[in-house]
Amino acid sequence: MNRRSLPELAPEQRRILVVNAKGGCGKTTLTTNLAALYASMEVDTALVDHDPQGSSSQWLKARGESRPPIQGVAPWKHTADASTTRSFQMRLAFEARRVVIDTPAALSASDFGRWLREADRIVIPVLPSAIDIKAGARFIGDLLLDRHYRSKPVPLAVVANRVRRNTLVFQKLERFLISLRIPFVATFRDLQGYVRAAESGDGLFELARGGDDQEWASFVRLIRWIEAPTSPRVIG
Ligand SMILES: Nc1ncnc2c1ncn2[C@@H]1O[C@H](COP(=O)(O)OP(=O)(O)O)[C@@H](O)[C@H]1O
Ligand SMILES: [Mg+2]
Repeated sequence: MNRRSLPELAPEQRRILVVNAKGGCGKTTLTTNLAALYASMEVDTALVDHDPQGSSSQWLKARGESRPPIQGVAPWKHTADASTTRSFQMRLAFEARRVVIDTPAALSASDFGRWLREADRIVIPVLPSAIDIKAGARFIGDLLLDRHYRSKPVPLAVVANRVRRNTLVFQKLERFLISLRIPFVATFRDLQGYVRAAESGDGLFELARGGDDQEWASFVRLIRWIEAPTSPRVIG
């Protein structure tokens, strides 16, 4: 892992839920990279994979033994009669200091409520296309109205993912977010390194020429936001 410095961590636990109803926007990429970064800081890190497709579990399986360890939990792997194992595993994972939670694209309201209760921070990745931005805005609108969210309104932020050139396309989304006082915390570029890292069970910065200073700065911004003390969001 690259030895560039990362922000100080908050003393208390953080569970970071990565969500968006849209598939392919980078939920798994963001989850695995955040887990790798936290693990590189020698923090007890867990990765919870709520997606039955199991992409982040596969990533963890491919992860080399010499890499900083990450504890993995895939709750969907356990059937109802194995619920004791499941709750035991979940409890273990939720004792970790940093818990990064990956979710599937299609969310049912009841699943969503359960996952929201598990979260201290919510991160929503959005791709730079008109369709994705529209879907992202709708998702955020629904989330803010969700009764589970309203009963426990934890901080949420949006990150742009797979950005190639300028971020002009995000201007509409930015205006929408400003009106809701939701921060647009970081922009991640479209890099081949993410695809390679996904295959080898690494974080981008664990690869030899994985990421540069610009990409690092984006992760620093995101982690800083995650680690900041909670400021209660006023919901109108
Ligand atoms: N910033 C990025 N640069 C390049 N490829 C990316 C980036 N983010 C995601 N991808 C690729 O896009 C595809 C979908 O990303 P993924 O993280 O699996 O999305 P989701 O979990 O939301 O469905 C994967 O093949 C992944 O490797
Ligand atoms: Mg995924």
